[in-house]
Amino acid sequence: MIRYIDQYKEEIKNKRVLLRVDYNVPIENGKVKDETRIIQSKETIDLLLSMNCDIILLTHLGRPKTEEDKKKYSTKNILDYLNEKNIFGCKVEFIDNFEKKLNYSGRKVYLFENVRFFEGETKNSLELAKNFSSYGDVFVNDAFGSLHRVHSSVAGISNFLPTYFGLLVKKEIENLSKFFNPMRPFTVILGGAKISDKLGLIKKIKADNIIICGAMALTIYKKMGKNIGKSLYEDIDVSELLDDRRIVLPDSFVVTDENFENRLVRSIEVIEDNMVAVDTVVDEKMVSIIKSSRMVFWNGPVGIFEKGFNEGSLSILEALSYVHGFRVVGGGDTVRFINSVLKQDYSKYVDFVSTGGGATLEFLERETLEAIEYIQNNTVRG
Ligand code: 3PG
Repeated sequence: MIRYIDQYKEEIKNKRVLLRVDYNVPIENGKVKDETRIIQSKETIDLLLSMNCDIILLTHLGRPKTEEDKKKYSTKNILDYLNEKNIFGCKVEFIDNFEKKLNYSGRKVYLFENVRFFEGETKNSLELAKNFSSYGDVFVNDAFGSLHRVHSSVAGISNFLPTYFGLLVKKEIENLSKFFNPMRPFTVILGGAKISDKLGLIKKIKADNIIICGAMALTIYKKMGKNIGKSLYEDIDVSELLDDRRIVLPDSFVVTDENFENRLVRSIEVIEDNMVAVDTVVDEKMVSIIKSSRMVFWNGPVGIFEKGFNEGSLSILEALSYVHGFRVVGGGDTVRFINSVLKQDYSKYVDFVSTGGGATLEFLERETLEAIEYIQNNTVRG
């Protein structure tokens, strides 16, 4: 049984809560570019503040490797955003390192420096987890997007503190679990650059149709011996997909030259050597499959929308508005795409926006996540 905070209020109230969130958000020139993950964490934070807790936020940001990365990936960028927008209705204070000590004061919010700046985080160092745990009386994990990682701040802390999950994790699990016994027809739409991340999901998911677009479709076409010009593809074995009758591939793509100058539509049979596919032509067949579905899960834009090749993704969004059933969109790029069009006003098109990328795919594939399993086995009971 997963222990969610709303069932354990008596044990948690008036405590210092070490709260792992996933604020791995896109940052450009020091500014937060998509706030979805931050907004989605507010329900848990509001509940904890109403219970007179102090909150010490832990998150990773990016995959810092060099000293130079330290500026770009400092969570100070997030701190500025939280304080400028007064997101939690109180000033958030920063914790740089383990020198600062905190006493309980009630309804205060702190943000720790990027957990990946500390040695051992991604190796689940228990020494580091113990250092983090000295800042809290209890540990709450609400970082759904990171639950496929067994890292010190995601999992290891549960060895030292009573551990609970937050309301975002609860909402994600409740919604995504609906796909385990799907209403049919159930359609999955996959785009994005990498098919290797999604092979496990394609195999396991109980879908009736799997519409594969963009570079993923080109990887399959390349394997079938088609000329895909200079288009992006992955050099991996996709032979087991060739006989999967649930898979639907596009017939045509929007192509351009390497300078992104001409915009032409080409059938997969006639892509020239110097052409690059940049968007998927979402045809009538695909649209009708989507419209007649009772459940849809969409991960991955089907074209390079950042460079203006967004017609394929727009056609999918439009088709979603006709679905009488349950529609979920997941993955950072897909969420960024729909936010760029819908500005967080989703209800006509989408029923649930999942904050996970890899975590969402892994949850749909395995029906659990590694850090959930780890915490279930290791947590100290309150
Ligand atoms: C994500 O953005 O998918 C999560 O925050 C996990 O990030 P990671 O792949 O760098 O661990």
